[in-house]
Amino acid sequence: MEKTLILVKPDGVQRSLIGEIVGRFERRGLKLIGMKFLQMTTELASKHYAVHQGRPFYDDLVAYITSGPIVAMVWEGNDAIAAARATIGATKPVDASPGTIRGDFGMEIGRNLVHGSDSPENGELEASLFFSDEELVSWGRDLESWIVE
Ligand code: RTP
Ligand code: MG
Repeated sequence: MEKTLILVKPDGVQRSLIGEIVGRFERRGLKLIGMKFLQMTTELASKHYAVHQGRPFYDDLVAYITSGPIVAMVWEGNDAIAAARATIGATKPVDASPGTIRGDFGMEIGRNLVHGSDSPENGELEASLFFSDEELVSWGRDLESWIVE
Protein backbone atom coordinates (compact mmCIF):
# COMPACT_ATOMS: atom_id res chain seq x y z
CA MET A 1 0.00 0.00 0.00
CA GLU A 2 1.45 3.38 -0.95
CA LYS A 3 1.81 6.26 1.46
CA THR A 4 1.98 9.92 0.54
CA LEU A 5 2.97 12.82 2.76
CA ILE A 6 0.59 15.71 2.19
CA LEU A 7 1.23 19.17 3.63
CA VAL A 8 -1.22 22.04 3.75
CA LYS A 9 1.41 24.74 3.35
CA PRO A 10 1.34 28.00 5.37
CA ASP A 11 -0.73 29.84 2.73
CA GLY A 12 -3.40 27.11 2.87
CA VAL A 13 -3.62 27.48 6.66
CA GLN A 14 -3.62 31.30 6.57
CA ARG A 15 -6.35 31.30 3.93
CA SER A 16 -8.61 29.01 6.00
CA LEU A 17 -8.44 26.25 3.38
CA ILE A 18 -7.51 23.35 5.70
CA GLY A 19 -10.99 21.80 5.66
CA GLU A 20 -11.40 22.33 1.92
CA ILE A 21 -8.06 20.68 1.16
CA VAL A 22 -8.41 17.78 3.61
CA GLY A 23 -11.94 17.15 2.33
CA ARG A 24 -10.70 16.64 -1.23
CA PHE A 25 -8.34 13.82 -0.25
CA GLU A 26 -10.97 12.33 2.04
CA ARG A 27 -13.69 12.37 -0.62
CA ARG A 28 -11.29 11.01 -3.22
CA GLY A 29 -11.06 7.79 -1.21
CA LEU A 30 -7.55 8.03 0.19
CA LYS A 31 -7.30 6.84 3.80
CA LEU A 32 -5.92 9.17 6.48
CA ILE A 33 -3.43 7.42 8.76
CA GLY A 34 -1.65 10.38 10.40
CA MET A 35 -2.25 14.09 10.96
CA LYS A 36 -0.63 16.93 12.92
CA PHE A 37 -0.53 20.74 13.08
CA LEU A 38 2.95 22.18 13.45
CA GLN A 39 5.36 24.87 12.36
CA MET A 40 8.32 23.46 10.45
CA THR A 41 11.82 24.33 11.63
CA THR A 42 14.55 25.24 9.16
CA GLU A 43 16.18 21.91 10.05
CA LEU A 44 13.10 19.89 9.12
CA ALA A 45 12.62 21.98 5.96
CA SER A 46 16.21 21.34 4.89
CA LYS A 47 15.63 17.58 5.22
CA HIS A 48 12.24 17.64 3.52
CA TYR A 49 13.52 19.77 0.62
CA ALA A 50 17.08 18.33 0.51
CA VAL A 51 16.64 17.48 -3.19
CA HIS A 52 16.14 21.19 -3.98
CA GLN A 53 19.26 22.42 -2.14
CA GLY A 54 21.35 24.60 -4.46
CA ARG A 55 18.40 25.55 -6.70
CA PRO A 56 17.81 29.30 -7.12
CA PHE A 57 14.41 29.11 -5.40
CA TYR A 58 15.64 27.09 -2.39
CA ASP A 59 16.01 29.92 0.15
CA ASP A 60 12.57 31.33 -0.73
CA LEU A 61 11.08 27.83 -0.53
CA VAL A 62 12.45 27.25 2.99
CA ALA A 63 11.34 30.74 4.10
CA TYR A 64 7.84 30.03 2.73
CA ILE A 65 7.39 26.57 4.24
CA THR A 66 8.65 27.71 7.68
CA SER A 67 6.69 31.01 7.66
CA GLY A 68 3.69 29.73 9.62
CA PRO A 69 1.94 26.59 10.78
CA ILE A 70 1.16 23.75 8.44
CA VAL A 71 -0.94 20.58 8.52
CA ALA A 72 1.08 17.42 7.89
CA MET A 73 -0.77 14.27 6.93
CA VAL A 74 -0.08 10.78 5.69
CA TRP A 75 -2.67 9.29 3.36
CA GLU A 76 -2.64 5.69 2.23
CA GLY A 77 -4.07 3.86 -0.76
CA ASN A 78 -3.35 1.92 -3.93
CA ASP A 79 -1.65 4.45 -6.20
CA ALA A 80 -1.84 7.03 -3.42
CA ILE A 81 1.05 9.02 -4.93
CA ALA A 82 -0.52 9.45 -8.36
CA ALA A 83 -4.03 9.99 -6.98
CA ALA A 84 -2.87 12.70 -4.60
CA ARG A 85 -0.73 14.49 -7.19
CA ALA A 86 -3.66 14.50 -9.64
CA THR A 87 -5.87 15.99 -6.93
CA ILE A 88 -3.21 18.62 -6.14
CA GLY A 89 -2.55 19.68 -9.76
CA ALA A 90 0.50 21.06 -11.58
CA THR A 91 3.30 22.69 -9.57
CA LYS A 92 2.61 26.06 -11.23
CA PRO A 93 -0.98 26.92 -10.29
CA VAL A 94 -1.62 28.80 -13.55
CA ASP A 95 -0.92 25.54 -15.39
CA ALA A 96 -3.06 23.47 -13.02
CA SER A 97 -6.44 22.33 -14.27
CA PRO A 98 -9.56 23.76 -12.68
CA GLY A 99 -10.90 21.13 -10.32
CA THR A 100 -7.46 20.54 -8.79
CA ILE A 101 -6.49 22.22 -5.52
CA ARG A 102 -3.85 24.43 -7.12
CA GLY A 103 -6.06 25.10 -10.15
CA ASP A 104 -8.95 26.20 -7.96
CA PHE A 105 -7.09 28.21 -5.30
CA GLY A 106 -3.58 29.13 -6.52
CA MET A 107 -1.97 31.85 -8.61
CA GLU A 108 1.81 31.46 -8.09
CA ILE A 109 4.37 28.66 -7.83
CA GLY A 110 5.73 30.10 -4.58
CA ARG A 111 2.25 29.98 -3.02
CA ASN A 112 0.96 26.65 -4.27
CA LEU A 113 -0.84 25.58 -1.12
CA VAL A 114 -0.07 21.87 -0.91
CA HIS A 115 2.76 19.37 -1.00
CA GLY A 116 2.45 15.76 -2.12
CA SER A 117 5.20 13.12 -2.29
CA ASP A 118 6.43 12.31 -5.81
CA SER A 119 7.27 8.59 -5.50
CA PRO A 120 6.47 5.65 -3.20
CA GLU A 121 10.05 5.79 -1.85
CA ASN A 122 9.77 9.49 -1.05
CA GLY A 123 6.31 8.91 0.44
CA GLU A 124 7.84 6.53 2.99
CA LEU A 125 10.87 8.74 3.58
CA GLU A 126 8.88 11.97 3.99
CA ALA A 127 6.27 10.31 6.22
CA SER A 128 9.11 9.20 8.52
CA LEU A 129 10.44 12.79 8.73
CA PHE A 130 7.15 14.01 10.19
CA PHE A 131 5.72 10.94 12.00
CA SER A 132 7.04 8.16 14.22
CA ASP A 133 5.75 4.65 13.51
CA GLU A 134 3.46 4.91 16.56
CA GLU A 135 1.85 8.07 15.19
CA LEU A 136 0.66 6.30 12.03
CA VAL A 137 -2.61 4.51 12.67
CA SER A 138 -3.63 1.24 11.08
CA TRP A 139 -7.42 1.14 10.97
CA GLY A 140 -10.21 -0.52 9.04
CA ARG A 141 -12.56 1.71 7.09
CA ASP A 142 -16.12 0.35 7.02
CA LEU A 143 -16.70 1.83 3.55
CA GLU A 144 -13.59 0.18 2.07
CA SER A 145 -15.41 -2.21 -0.28
CA TRP A 146 -17.26 0.74 -1.85
CA ILE A 147 -13.95 2.44 -2.71
CA VAL A 148 -11.63 -0.48 -3.48
CA GLU A 149 -12.84 -3.47 -5.52
P1 RTP B 1 5.62 19.76 -3.91
O1 RTP B 1 6.95 19.04 -3.77
O2 RTP B 1 5.50 20.98 -3.02
O3 RTP B 1 4.45 18.84 -3.82
O4 RTP B 1 5.53 20.37 -5.36
P2 RTP B 1 5.95 19.69 -6.72
O5 RTP B 1 6.41 18.28 -6.50
O6 RTP B 1 4.82 19.92 -7.63
O7 RTP B 1 7.18 20.59 -7.13
P3 RTP B 1 8.75 20.42 -6.82
O8 RTP B 1 9.45 20.45 -8.12
O9 RTP B 1 8.99 19.28 -5.90
O10 RTP B 1 9.07 21.77 -6.07
C1 RTP B 1 8.85 21.91 -4.68
C2 RTP B 1 8.28 23.26 -4.38
O11 RTP B 1 9.25 24.25 -4.64
C3 RTP B 1 8.63 25.43 -5.11
N1 RTP B 1 9.19 25.75 -6.40
N2 RTP B 1 9.44 26.97 -6.77
N3 RTP B 1 10.25 29.25 -8.23
C4 RTP B 1 10.39 28.05 -8.77
O12 RTP B 1 10.85 27.88 -9.89
C5 RTP B 1 9.97 26.90 -7.99
N4 RTP B 1 10.04 25.65 -8.38
C6 RTP B 1 9.56 24.92 -7.37
C7 RTP B 1 7.14 25.15 -5.18
O13 RTP B 1 6.52 25.58 -3.95
C8 RTP B 1 7.09 23.64 -5.27
O14 RTP B 1 5.86 23.13 -4.80
MG1 MG C 1 7.88 17.78 -5.09
